Amino acid sequence: MSKAYRDTFTGPHLLGISGLNRLEVESLLDAAEEFVGPKQLQGRKKNYLSGRTQVNLFFEPSTRTQSSFEVAGKRLGADVINMALKTSSIAKGETLIDTAVTLNAMHPDLLVVRHGASGAAALLSQKVDCAVVNAGDGTHEHPTQALLDALTLRHHLGDLAGKRIAICGDIAHSRVARSNVILLTLLGAEVRLCGPVTLVPSSAHEWGVCVFTDMNNALDGCDAVMMLRLQSERMDSALIPSRREYFRFYGLDRGKLAHAKPGALVMHPGPMNRGVEIDSDIADDPAISLITEQGEMGVAVRMAVLDKLAGGAS
Ligand code: CP
Repeated sequence: MSKAYRDTFTGPHLLGISGLNRLEVESLLDAAEEFVGPKQLQGRKKNYLSGRTQVNLFFEPSTRTQSSFEVAGKRLGADVINMALKTSSIAKGETLIDTAVTLNAMHPDLLVVRHGASGAAALLSQKVDCAVVNAGDGTHEHPTQALLDALTLRHHLGDLAGKRIAICGDIAHSRVARSNVILLTLLGAEVRLCGPVTLVPSSAHEWGVCVFTDMNNALDGCDAVMMLRLQSERMDSALIPSRREYFRFYGLDRGKLAHAKPGALVMHPGPMNRGVEIDSDIADDPAISLITEQGEMGVAVRMAVLDKLAGGAS
């Protein structure tokens, strides 16, 4: 593979999958391959981010994303600072912009931001001098989640062109769904969305995907099924009759999964509501569940993104 091809993605920020082209996405995925498995630890020896400062600024709770950005930065030799919401001046009412401008004055190289407002990462990128990575902004995008999902799928399915992938559940509140729809369609996959009408935005019909309200129809012939968390914290009205009812119609169980291809793969970005959007029997089945592997791929993808934006590896 030529260096020019590998270096297609050059930043200066990663604010979303929207705006990237197929070569840029493939460039990031190929770069992430360099950090899969034991090669993650070699990244530490190479110190690609030695002398760089990475600030993780999370205004919303996170387990997977924040910890894997921290691990990724440290494995590449960066100095990583985690701003804890409860102990920072954000708790005293400081605004997003004032916080960012203050941190910018300390000359970080990378700012990793999660915020409840759509567009927050893009706004920050206009106020600071360093590279900004969107770690999830409102219901807008979660680009590194989509990249890690694609990397995980590629390991099992190879080229994703023509593969049928269903994304099911709370589409309306899901930045993961938005980023994945853009990325998977860029790679040529056939993407299907499924959820109750109250949880699928009317604009979804314009996203270049087929929209279903019946899980059995949506999963028909699918190579992989991506379940989404029911995001109750973002709902300001009752959008489902009850969690029990939701599981009956939209929770992934063996009966519904039988409509997908034999051996179809199952994914979930986490955190999972077991017994609501996915049956534990499926989530914990190592023959089909990629959920743990998604966590591992998250570190590889984030190492690649941080290195591309602030490192000197390529
Ligand atoms: N998938 C994801 O973003 O998980 P966290 O909220 O734990 O970071």
